[in-house]
Amino acid sequence: LVSTTITASVSVSTMDQEIVGHVKQQLSKLFEASLRTTVPDELDVEPLVVPCTGKFGDYQCNNAMSLYSRIKGKTTQFRGPPAIGQAIMKNLPPTKMIESCSVAGPGFVNVVLSTKWIAKSIQKMLIEGIETWAPRLRVKRAVVDFSSPNIAKEMHVGHLRSTIIGDTLARMLEYSNVEVLRRNHVGDWGTQFGMLIEFLFEEFPNWEGIGEQAIGDLQAFYKASKTRFDADPAFKERAQQAVVRLQGGEAKYHRAWAKICEISRREFDQVYQRLGVHLEEKGESFYNPYIPGVIEGLSKQGMVEESEGARVIFIEGKNIPLIVVKSDGGYNYASTDLAALWYRLNEEKAEWIIYVTDVGQQQHFEMFFSAAKHAGWLPSDGKAYPQATHVGFGLVLGDDGKRFRTRSTEVVRLVDLLDEAKNRSKAALIERGKGAEWSDKELEQTAEAVGYGAVKYADLKNNRLTNYTFNFDQMLNDKGNTAVYLLYAHARICSIIRKSGKDIEELKKTATVVLDHPDERVLGLHLLQFAETVEEACNNLLPNVLCEYLYNLSENFTKFYSNCQVVGSAEETSRLLLCEATAVVMRKCFYLLGIVPVYKI
Ligand code: ARG
Repeated sequence: LVSTTITASVSVSTMDQEIVGHVKQQLSKLFEASLRTTVPDELDVEPLVVPCTGKFGDYQCNNAMSLYSRIKGKTTQFRGPPAIGQAIMKNLPPTKMIESCSVAGPGFVNVVLSTKWIAKSIQKMLIEGIETWAPRLRVKRAVVDFSSPNIAKEMHVGHLRSTIIGDTLARMLEYSNVEVLRRNHVGDWGTQFGMLIEFLFEEFPNWEGIGEQAIGDLQAFYKASKTRFDADPAFKERAQQAVVRLQGGEAKYHRAWAKICEISRREFDQVYQRLGVHLEEKGESFYNPYIPGVIEGLSKQGMVEESEGARVIFIEGKNIPLIVVKSDGGYNYASTDLAALWYRLNEEKAEWIIYVTDVGQQQHFEMFFSAAKHAGWLPSDGKAYPQATHVGFGLVLGDDGKRFRTRSTEVVRLVDLLDEAKNRSKAALIERGKGAEWSDKELEQTAEAVGYGAVKYADLKNNRLTNYTFNFDQMLNDKGNTAVYLLYAHARICSIIRKSGKDIEELKKTATVVLDHPDERVLGLHLLQFAETVEEACNNLLPNVLCEYLYNLSENFTKFYSNCQVVGSAEETSRLLLCEATAVVMRKCFYLLGIVPVYKI
């Protein structure tokens, strides 16, 4: 094992200035420079830099082995991977960020970061703000298609998952300097509207004059109209006519349709408002005018075939075709999605189009993505842009391991669910004596932040592909990996700072962050890994990566706090700054997860 110390350069290299607060990227730049010197003929070798938790270092560069097998036939310059590792280490440009390097095993280059550099980076973030740590993705504009419930049908827990996951993805991308078009692709077009409109005419002859409340629960309305539809052939006939008249653009039918949509929209908005989620509705109906042109274009490319009266696209490797025009001449979910994709690519100029639905729809997305690739809308190489990605998620289960239902086995009303989370967290706060201590408003706001935060976090902390069990007791537990635990941890940090009586803004300018204690260094390094964590979560569209980071941050803080005295110690000012930096990063994590922080508990 050879160890060497890289001399600290006097001037800060431009690289250090360009990408602050992104350790992995900064190290990658340094190793890239080294690779260019070490193997000048292998220009396309990308540096492989990963964090590590061994005793040899903080990060590791893993290029030596694969590089050796690549060049061994061409040159005799290196006797084996370790020799390449040595050369890579030797050729690193001078930098302030590295304390020392060593080569281990088959050529791994281990890097120990400079503790001083870590401390300085944190101080810089405190002064200039955490926005300076934002990752920069290659994509400039993205569509996130999420939530997307269906008009007059149930907005179920699947839509809740889509809303929570989609909102977080949008927030993380926005933070990473991507312009995000948050799209609610509501199911507002389809044959069910014929029956709904006829039923509206029948039940409410003066429907134009009535308020939305008069109709009441739309789901019940849907059920009643379905019963009528199934029972009376004359009604059924009229309903089918109504679809034709609606799609033909007849004004009265269009107004009735708009009224029904409006009622649903109000119900959806209640959920969005509670969750603090912002979306822009562009429902299926919006894309309807674009469908004929899009299908004609695909037909001209020879992709559309006749099959059993329908018009379909055969997809390589799939045994059923994608139906784009039904045998009755109508369009469907797939035709709408093709038109929407066309619109997003050509009119909205989005480079990354992300769809958040349950995994049950995977086949649908695979098929129309394939069609789009075949048509040349998307590059067939999955890595190039523009790109379309389906973000699938698993089921929400009840304690019985079956699909989540309420006690009455009826469907779950999402607002009731959110109310219960809030009420339970309020009860817990009152039990802790906060009812007497706080104003009603404070109690209410904290109960909401904790209750809704708990529902969101319980969903987001799992890998989205797995099913997860919805359990109030678990998600509202103040111990373990829950939003409650994390929100309390944040509040506690705020209270440490408050109780110190020190002015943090002043300290940022006058005091210096020092990380002499090992637990301070661990916490400091973890803070500095925020940007690369967000970047990874964005690239893989996995919110649980950020949750895990946040939980570990809290654990690292706890360890620091139990081993390092803050208030009253000789290191007080530095340690208060470290507390503040932790609180700042925690709050950014909460924000990205759509959770409202609390400051006292
Ligand atoms: N409305 C659909 C559903 O409830 C989800 C729509 C997802 N988005 C899309 N572009 N297909 O299942």
